[in-house]
Amino acid sequence: MTTMNFAPNTTAVAARATQLSKVYGQGETQVVALDNVTVDFVQGQFTAIMGPSGSGKSTLMHCVAGLDTFSAGSVRIGETELGSLKDKQLTQLRRDKIGFIFQAFNLLPTLTALENITLPMDIAGRKADKQWLDKVIEMVGLSGRLSHRPTQLSGGQQQRVAVARALASKPEIIFGDEPTGNLDSRSGAEVLGFLRNSVRELGQTVVMVTHDPVAASYADRVIFLADGRIVDEIHRPTADGVLDRMKAFDAKGRTS
Ligand SMILES: Nc1ncnc2c1ncn2[C@@H]1O[C@H](COP(=O)(O)OP(=O)(O)OP(=O)(O)O)[C@@H](O)[C@H]1O
Ligand SMILES: [Mg+2]
Repeated sequence: MTTMNFAPNTTAVAARATQLSKVYGQGETQVVALDNVTVDFVQGQFTAIMGPSGSGKSTLMHCVAGLDTFSAGSVRIGETELGSLKDKQLTQLRRDKIGFIFQAFNLLPTLTALENITLPMDIAGRKADKQWLDKVIEMVGLSGRLSHRPTQLSGGQQQRVAVARALASKPEIIFGDEPTGNLDSRSGAEVLGFLRNSVRELGQTVVMVTHDPVAASYADRVIFLADGRIVDEIHRPTADGVLDRMKAFDAKGRTS
């Protein structure tokens, strides 16, 4: 079996998985969710992760983001090997270096939009960089909604709060698991635009799991997972290009 290697060896890496495997359960019920995955997420790049349901997308993201343990291999965020960290250090690294945007926005209902945005930094006892914060808030277009609570905001606005929260602390890398999955196409396009701008204008690194070829087309690069392995990648994707590739996988799946 050949292992495809998708680790370019030039530019600075925000996160790297090396021969990463994740096995759930034992014996008959054993599932190999990740099978020897090696991948780099280069600084200042927007990567989309695609693949059929159950192919290991969330598992890959959770392992690289330090939210889940792995069975073999290694993961690096910046220069730090996750395997070398104690629980407390791992929590700290997640808090300081990683931003998360999930499908469910995870906003606290009793806090205002602004309080939600700065919450991770408040918990960490860090002061927000005011200029940066203003820039992020302006970029996501929330300036007029900062004292609103989540229930007073539309779904798209809530998701923008979640995006601003992820960007606010200038994390080394932002992970999103279907961050636009619950949004209508217009709000989704907005959020994707913000993510892309954060990469282009602010130099942010973003990794996003998605099922949507249009969402994937906002990325600089798409990697495709199947059965826990990276099987392909596209650079500078178009929605049609991504769709064609997905169809090709489907056809292969049916004939093999
Ligand atoms: N906690 C768990 N215990 C056992 N098996 C699991 C667990 N979590 C995931 N799996 C299995 O690992 C495989 C990969 O799951 P994962 O959630 O990474 O897929 P995914 O690509 O994110 O799918 P989806 O597109 O449906 O979200 C699946 O076969 C799944 O059943
Ligand atoms: Mg998933």
